[in-house]
Amino acid sequence: MPLPSGDRLIVLVGLPGSGKTTVGKQLARRLQLPFVDSDHEIEQRLGCSIREFFEREGEARFRDIEAEVIDALTRSGPMVLSTGGGAVLRPDNRQRLKSRGKVFYLRSTPEDVFRRVRHDRNRPLLQVADPLQKLRELHAARDPLYREVAHYVIETGRPSVATLVNMIVMQL
Ligand code: S3P
Repeated sequence: MPLPSGDRLIVLVGLPGSGKTTVGKQLARRLQLPFVDSDHEIEQRLGCSIREFFEREGEARFRDIEAEVIDALTRSGPMVLSTGGGAVLRPDNRQRLKSRGKVFYLRSTPEDVFRRVRHDRNRPLLQVADPLQKLRELHAARDPLYREVAHYVIETGRPSVATLVNMIVMQL
């Protein structure tokens, strides 16, 4: 489906485990656009996993690199861009994402996310004694930021991935 040229950077934001990668890949296929995951690009640049980098250098250093990668990616042509769950924390990232792309917030409850990610060991922020509580805190802190950056909010609770893709396509 060809898109008007101004709509060809599609950005997905949301909590870790909200489905950005799964939905983003199918959406990209449907729109015949490249799919890019900002976390993957960061790992390529770091030469190690985000988890290792977090442990070695800390979150603040990770956020600096994330901001540079997001700036570069949002200048670099049409794509479906899946962003890390914390990409909205910095105002400059929010401003770049919103002004350069069409931003969809995949909104999930902390309980839904917990069900999807509880066995996943690669999410550094969730390697805590009580990941569900952590997700509740992340949701409370970030829901306003995801809403601020988003042009559209897509509730991910019940629909299948295919339906979520359709819901996004209908807004383009
Ligand atoms: C983070 C989410 C992760 C990754 C990093 C920090 C966060 O991405 O960027 O571990 O702060 O929520 P996903 O949302 O793809 O898991």
